[in-house]
Amino acid sequence: MEKTWFLYLTAVSLVQCFLVCLAMNGPNSTTDQSALLAFKSHISLDHPYHRLVNNWSSATSVCDWIGVSCSKRHRRVTALNLPDMGIGGTIPPHIGNLSFLSYFNITNNTFHDHLPSEMARLHRLKFVDFGINNFGGGVPAWFGNLPELQYLHLRNNSFTGLVPASIGNISTLESLDLRYNFMEGRVPEEIGYLPKLKKLFMGFNHFSGSIPTIFNISSLELIDFSSNMLSGILPKDLCIFVPKLKFIYLSWNEIDGQIPLTLGECRELQIISLSLNKFSGFVPKAIGNLTLLQRLYFGGNDFKGMIPYSSLLFSLVRI
Ligand SMILES: *[C@@H]1O[C@H](CO)[C@@H](O)[C@H](O)[C@H]1NC(C)=O
Ligand SMILES: *[C@@H]1O[C@H](CO)[C@@H](O)[C@H](O)[C@H]1NC(C)=O
Ligand SMILES: *[C@@H]1O[C@H](CO)[C@@H](O)[C@H](O)[C@H]1NC(C)=O
Ligand SMILES: *[C@@H]1O[C@H](CO)[C@@H](O)[C@H](O)[C@H]1NC(C)=O
Ligand SMILES: *[C@@H]1O[C@H](CO)[C@@H](O)[C@H](O)[C@H]1NC(C)=O
Ligand SMILES: *[C@@H]1O[C@H](CO)[C@@H](O)[C@H](O)[C@H]1NC(C)=O
Ligand SMILES: *[C@@H]1O[C@H](CO)[C@@H](O)[C@H](O)[C@H]1NC(C)=O
Ligand SMILES: *[C@@H]1O[C@H](CO)[C@@H](O)[C@H](O)[C@H]1NC(C)=O
Ligand SMILES: *[C@@H]1O[C@H](CO)[C@@H](O)[C@H](O)[C@H]1NC(C)=O
Repeated sequence: MEKTWFLYLTAVSLVQCFLVCLAMNGPNSTTDQSALLAFKSHISLDHPYHRLVNNWSSATSVCDWIGVSCSKRHRRVTALNLPDMGIGGTIPPHIGNLSFLSYFNITNNTFHDHLPSEMARLHRLKFVDFGINNFGGGVPAWFGNLPELQYLHLRNNSFTGLVPASIGNISTLESLDLRYNFMEGRVPEEIGYLPKLKKLFMGFNHFSGSIPTIFNISSLELIDFSSNMLSGILPKDLCIFVPKLKFIYLSWNEIDGQIPLTLGECRELQIISLSLNKFSGFVPKAIGNLTLLQRLYFGGNDFKGMIPYSSLLFSLVRI
């Protein structure tokens, strides 16, 4: 009996030591402070009296700094929320030490250069919003290793190259926004593996080839491939597996063939934008059954006949 107790206590203290020792040797709130001070030293401010200058001071806890949030228990940095701040510069590798970071929003600033690969260590990241900056280079493949990522917003930057196929591995991803960059090539079929994807914004790039197989992602609500160089046809079963689709933006591409008859199955459609493509044939009558439609853009194609009559629709069509 005593021996059992002894073994039990030894085991407990070993586990405790393991946890404490891990906490002592691994990253802690001091690590977070040095990571953020390194970040600050790489930040350029739009004016010398910017409010970050005195606020981000090592005399106070990082948890009291503007735009920084911490976990209650361990006082580790969980969120960096610095949109519209008039700040720029580069992201230093030290950011990769913020091991509890789950929310990172620096949208609408002037950060530039590439994203450091050390960010691949931020395994708790759920929300990344780096939109409206000057980041460049390729969209890093390591995003595919972030197991909890839900929002990846990189719009209005200068990213080039291909969409990494590894993005298809982010099974938690709900919203991907790559609009207004200089990306090119085929959009990888792996995008179609994302089981929770709701919003896919790929507009205003130089993507070519056909639309990847995405019309079987049942969570999809919005598809935007506006203003690219996509060709090929729309799948015949377009609307069979995407019952929640509300917005489809495909204007300004080179897509041909007919509009699939299944369009009427997307009962929640509000906006259909197909203008400036090479569509032909008749517009399916089933469009008249889409009671939530607000806008239709069909102009600049080669359609025959008339838009199926419906007094509601008649007032909505924008050619
Ligand atoms: C954080 O870790 C460093 C070593 O990595 C250690 O010197 C420091 O005391 C730790 N700080 C806290 C607050 O635990
Ligand atoms: C920094 O700003 C926050 C939020 O405005 C404020 O609560 C905090 O006291 C400021 N810290 C310093 C050192 O100015
Ligand atoms: C971007 O931030 C600036 C302030 O730095 C603000 O004036 C502007 O309205 C913001 N733009 C957007 C699109 O939010
Ligand atoms: C944090 O990251 C930098 C760069 O990746 C590294 O040099 C440094 O040793 C890391 N650790 C701590 C505790 O700051
Ligand atoms: C980032 O901040 C901007 C401005 O407050 C906001 O509009 C946007 O939704 C935020 N992004 C995320 C992913 O929360
Ligand atoms: C995004 O980029 C496009 C094209 O450069 C531009 O028209 C648009 O105003 C930009 N949006 C923002 C919010 O900066
Ligand atoms: C996706 O994840 C699987 C399993 O971890 C891995 O074998 C594969 O190489 C990854 N794909 C890409 C394109 O990174
Ligand atoms: C959609 O279909 C493709 C090709 O058949 C498949 O690889 C993918 O896993 C499917 N996606 C979903 C979310 O079911
Ligand atoms: C419109 O919906 C009705 C009722 O669900 C159905 O009977 C009809 O076939 C549909 N019309 C078209 C053209 O799909």
